[in-house]
Amino acid sequence: MTSRLPSRRLILSQGAAVIGAASTGLLLPEIVRAQSSKVRVGFMLPYTGTFAQLGVAIENGFRLAIDQQGGKLGGREIEYFKVDDESDPSKGIENASKLVQRDKVDVLVGTVHSGVQMGIQKVARDSGVLSLIPNAGVHAATRGLCAPNVFRTSFTNSQPTRALGAAMVAKGHKKAVWITWKYAAGDEAFEGFKEGYTAAGGTIVKELGLPFPNVEFQALLTEIAALRPDAVACFFAGGGAAKFIRDYAAAGLKGKIPLYGSGFLTEGVLDAAGPAADGIITTLHYSDSLDTPRNNAFRLAYAKTFRSQPDVYAVQGYDTGLLLIQGANAVKGDINNKAALYKAMEGATIDSPRGKWTMSKSHNPVQDIYLRVVENKENKVIGIAAKALADSGAGCKMG
Ligand code: PHB
Repeated sequence: MTSRLPSRRLILSQGAAVIGAASTGLLLPEIVRAQSSKVRVGFMLPYTGTFAQLGVAIENGFRLAIDQQGGKLGGREIEYFKVDDESDPSKGIENASKLVQRDKVDVLVGTVHSGVQMGIQKVARDSGVLSLIPNAGVHAATRGLCAPNVFRTSFTNSQPTRALGAAMVAKGHKKAVWITWKYAAGDEAFEGFKEGYTAAGGTIVKELGLPFPNVEFQALLTEIAALRPDAVACFFAGGGAAKFIRDYAAAGLKGKIPLYGSGFLTEGVLDAAGPAADGIITTLHYSDSLDTPRNNAFRLAYAKTFRSQPDVYAVQGYDTGLLLIQGANAVKGDINNKAALYKAMEGATIDSPRGKWTMSKSHNPVQDIYLRVVENKENKVIGIAAKALADSGAGCKMG
């Protein structure tokens, strides 16, 4: 309440200035524009490249959440802005600055790629703009570089894979090869995998990698065939994941060396991958087949609106909308009342299609991780791999 008063007073005092400004043809003072007009929401997402589908699913999910609330945030209309970040880390700062400085967004929703997220994180920390991460799992965003104005609604890169190793060892697969794109997401997914797998008694016989977004897997698949491990575990996503699954089968490895993965491997790609995906076991914080009223209602609404099936990215976008709605409602649309806005978002329980989750102290979801298997183009839940899993948030100091 106390932190609300100054902004109100400012508005009142500047209100007189507006009348004067309007009569002299000057622009509205920024503070009045920010309070009385539309909330400016900027999407910084990949709309081209191997993660293009992921960006679209996130935006769709976000818009669905908002539309289900009458299209408004805390009673205010919304104006949307968009930048295609191309999953290109070298343009991360420049693209985030376009939204923050040129478009003057109140909220930046982005992104998918961990390297690009580091650019957003810098702009968010420098500008103080509210930054909602609907996918990218880079540890630093909610660990050493955490910030009061940055909230993640997805996962940290090591969260889904932490529980994968134990499931593999339980199936008797004690010698594994790891393969991934060599960048933050793959490397940090490996961190989680290694910890869980070795703790369960597994041995990693080889780590293989290729640069993002390269999809020339052939030489590496030949190497896997020669190594003859009990199983393979991996991190790939989007278009590259579909190709990896197909190439794995085409190389004759399917049915011989079981394939496991961080669950992104089989998200949004099951039509493109076809029967080559059958039997792949993964761990993730969502599954298509969660048979709950919440998930069923979400899937129906999404399918009706967008004429396509939702995946984990759609859920994360949807939850980003739900989180922002909770925050904006708590401050009745006055999103400049940052202390109260952040407090409401920190205390939020998100009633998500993935199951209810809460926000950790470092602003990352505390959530269940499901064990899934692909059957007939669906990720079927076969167990809970980890209950209410929180990231360590190591090194996060807010404020
Ligand atoms: C990431 O770069 O953090 C990333 C990208 C795609 C995923 C998951 C993580 O599916």
